Amino acid sequence: MLWTLVLLLIGLFIIVLLYSTRTRQKNEPPLDKGSIPWLGHALEFGKDAAKFLARMKEKHGDIFTVCVAGHYVTVLLDPKSFDAVINDTEFLDFTRNRNQLLKRIFSLQLPSVKPAAERTWMKRHFQGHGLSKLSSSMNIHLQSLLLSDHRDCGPSKWRQEGLFSLCYSLLFRAGYLTLFESTDNAAAVYKEFRKFDNLLTKVARSSLNRGESKTANSSRERLWELLSQGRLSGRSETGSWQQSYHHFLQEQGVDAEMQTRALLLQLWTTQCNAGPAAFWLLGFLLTHPEAMEAVRSEVGHLISQDTHRQHPPTDLLEAHSTPVLDSVLSETLRLTAAVMISREVVQDKTLHMANGQEYHLRQGDRVCLFPFLSPQMDPEIHQDPQLFKYDRFLNEDITVKDKFYKDEKILKYYTLPWGAGGNICSGKDFAVQTVKQFVFLLLTHLDIETCDPDDKLPPVNPSRYGFGMLQPDGDLQVRYRLKEPLYEI
Ligand code: HEM
Ligand SMILES: *[C@@H]1O[C@H](CO)[C@@H](O)[C@H](O)[C@H]1NC(C)=O
Ligand SMILES: *[C@@H]1O[C@H](CO)[C@@H](O)[C@H](O)[C@H]1NC(C)=O
Repeated sequence: MLWTLVLLLIGLFIIVLLYSTRTRQKNEPPLDKGSIPWLGHALEFGKDAAKFLARMKEKHGDIFTVCVAGHYVTVLLDPKSFDAVINDTEFLDFTRNRNQLLKRIFSLQLPSVKPAAERTWMKRHFQGHGLSKLSSSMNIHLQSLLLSDHRDCGPSKWRQEGLFSLCYSLLFRAGYLTLFESTDNAAAVYKEFRKFDNLLTKVARSSLNRGESKTANSSRERLWELLSQGRLSGRSETGSWQQSYHHFLQEQGVDAEMQTRALLLQLWTTQCNAGPAAFWLLGFLLTHPEAMEAVRSEVGHLISQDTHRQHPPTDLLEAHSTPVLDSVLSETLRLTAAVMISREVVQDKTLHMANGQEYHLRQGDRVCLFPFLSPQMDPEIHQDPQLFKYDRFLNEDITVKDKFYKDEKILKYYTLPWGAGGNICSGKDFAVQTVKQFVFLLLTHLDIETCDPDDKLPPVNPSRYGFGMLQPDGDLQVRYRLKEPLYEI
């Protein structure tokens, strides 16, 4: 007993010693270790990363190193210098950190899968010919789910629901039916997935209590089971995305057990962002009448051009440009997409900033970009950055605006919802089409409004900064009913 205590004390002493011996060297970014040994700023970081990093930016400027749970993380917040990190595949590596997360969150280890081969495989499905096939299948599922959810309720009867669950549930189930093979358990998968997704940030930070850990474990196992049902029952559809994924993993030498686990990773990657994005987009429209008016007028114009009703209406979206809706989407993502781009320093590196300054980065540390703070919420780039302005990404002649400046220099990165570089979202084109289709479908099929005209959007759940699309804390209640006739805008 006494010896355990002594060993514990020695261990603690070593930790404190190691911690306090790190000092800022010449040419290194400002170092901020926080007041708790080893943990450093971990608690503040996990609670609200955006608030914490904004405070650090205020204190130290565009680059600084913080201690987070035993790791030293250099945070770079100058978008003009992002390429120095994004482009570097020699001194910086993103696979190790990713593999740790996959193991922790999905109990998944795929050492034999080559990242480049996986990206190539993904692109084959989510771009080019594969894309239009998926997109039209997605559209069919969205439409039939919307109508079947309404079947048991009189056509002109108003319903009330939270907008977040409405959007997430529809897009998730349609996405699941489009990509995966089991067709009769979409609702069950959605329900279980939401349970898992709600604990995901805590799993990633290893901050679960016992009860939560148990829930996360059983939820993960239940999802593995649900996701492999289609395959086991022999109902698997040839040529489906899921089947092609199994083939790919097989070729890469992945065993059956890990193949099943990998399905949950793919379910998360492909389904966790579009629903929340659609929620924020519609939420902003419903709480900003002039934005809604502008989008309705653009959609109405599209429909009126198709006088003979020859096309399924969503084809119109592909055949015509929709600069207003595009701007609304970009503005929504600027405000609510918060990816963290993270790399491990595998060799000592000199980081060249755009302003000519140079900083030394130590091997074993991490580098991290958080584009949500800058460029996305940077007042020097986007005026009144906390406000939703539907026409922020529109020029005066109603074309897409893509020129933004900081210190009078034109910016390559003025918003980064999709990440950048080696692990930029492979599903970007599919996601954009899907969200646009969804908004089009809802505006043409439903009368929809907030329950109270003064209702505001709920605040952001601050624990999700760094995990892609943000989610709300709470929901926005809406009333809606099917239009009679459809397509009257
Ligand atoms: C608005 C919706 C979406 C947003 C904002 C979004 C954003 C992102 C971001 C930021 C990443 C990089 C993650 C990281 O660096 O850790 C990513 C990766 C990825 N996304 Fe999306 N995504 C969306 C929808 C989708 C959809 C609908 C699909 C496919 C159906 C998809 C497929 C992927 C894939 C496969 C990757 C992994 C790329 C790789 O690591 O090689 N995404 N997404
Ligand atoms: C980054 O890489 C791209 C393409 O590989 C290249 O065009 C660009 O000049 C590079 N930028 C920097 C800062 O190295
Ligand atoms: C959950 O699973 C992990 C590893 O898979 C394990 O270490 C942990 O003890 C489990 N938690 C509970 C409460 O059973």
